[in-house]
Amino acid sequence: MIKADVGSVSGHMTVHPKQLEVARQFMEDARQKGTISDYHVTHAGDDIELIMTHAMGENHSAIHELAWKCFKQITAEVSRPLKLYAAGQDMLSEAFSGNIKGMGPGVAELEFAERQSDPVLIFMADKTEPGAWNLPLFKIFADPFNTAGLIIDLGLHDGFIFTVLDVVDNVSVELKCPAEMYDLLALIGTPSKYVIERVLRSDGLPAAAASTTRLSLIAGRYVGKDDPVCIVRAQHGLPAAGEVLEAFAFPHLVAGWMRGSHHGPLMPVSVDDSQNKVSRFDGPPRVVGLGFQVSDGKLIGPTDLFADPAFDRTRQTANLVADYMRLHGPFMPHRLGPEEMEYTTLPQVLEKLKTRFKKT
Ligand code: F6R
Ligand code: MG
Ligand code: MG
Repeated sequence: MIKADVGSVSGHMTVHPKQLEVARQFMEDARQKGTISDYHVTHAGDDIELIMTHAMGENHSAIHELAWKCFKQITAEVSRPLKLYAAGQDMLSEAFSGNIKGMGPGVAELEFAERQSDPVLIFMADKTEPGAWNLPLFKIFADPFNTAGLIIDLGLHDGFIFTVLDVVDNVSVELKCPAEMYDLLALIGTPSKYVIERVLRSDGLPAAAASTTRLSLIAGRYVGKDDPVCIVRAQHGLPAAGEVLEAFAFPHLVAGWMRGSHHGPLMPVSVDDSQNKVSRFDGPPRVVGLGFQVSDGKLIGPTDLFADPAFDRTRQTANLVADYMRLHGPFMPHRLGPEEMEYTTLPQVLEKLKTRFKKT
């Protein structure tokens, strides 16, 4: 999964169909040349999502360069000529330098040997940051009140290993669940700093991978939220697809929304146009999910995971919480705390007032 926001229509709302057309053509050429086995192009709000399968392993420069060139071409052929908003926004570097990580676009890669049958679920968020996956990933792989299989399926009894990345100091740690559950929660309850990057089953089977890019930490200034993606394998000794989705039935509060500076509920929506245009107060933050079977490297599907009316109530709750949070206006905890505001305009405001503070 490689994704980027390279410009959108009517502000930061949604992609232009021509952008997706160019992306699909680019991916189709790469498939015919044999660089990738298969692809699916979609969007979450204003983010273009390239879902790709290939046999070159994680962090391969040919795949990263392919995605980079694709986003460049979309920017040059569509975003700039149509003067789409924030054209080329996430392309933080001029030239490609071997690995797309740290250059702006978000990346989540999961290398695995295909099982007899391999359901793979892809989650794509808009108007939020990578720490938004912490709560659902914990519930999916460590919370028996969410995932019945942790109790009922002996294949899951030995638990899962979480790799947690400290995105501020760039170090990571592996923690085993359930044995180290409290240590894990002590870290991931601070989603602005500690981010779940990967989950393995206790025997090493790759179960999930998430993008961890924090644009503001790369650029040192505010350049839009990271709008992360996540890949989760399901079933047969892993949480069932329905257990994975159950974790999203609670629209938990995440950081992002307007100007990347507000807490709001993460609302699961269908990929369908009516739900995938991010409008109210540039949000609220949302997640789109697609389900596939990976079959000899081909992507069979997708299913639109949150199109189920069973998520209607989650959306209603999200909208209720959105109303409640909005009533705080510029006050915390709706507005993010000062350490997060460092990456937006707060330092400039403080600078402006600097000389007016008097000693008391
Ligand atoms: C959130 C986001 C938007 C913008 C907002 C202001 O990730 O990108 O909420 O921050 O629309 O954008 P500018 O400053 O470009 O007018
Ligand atoms: Mg945008
Ligand atoms: Mg976005």
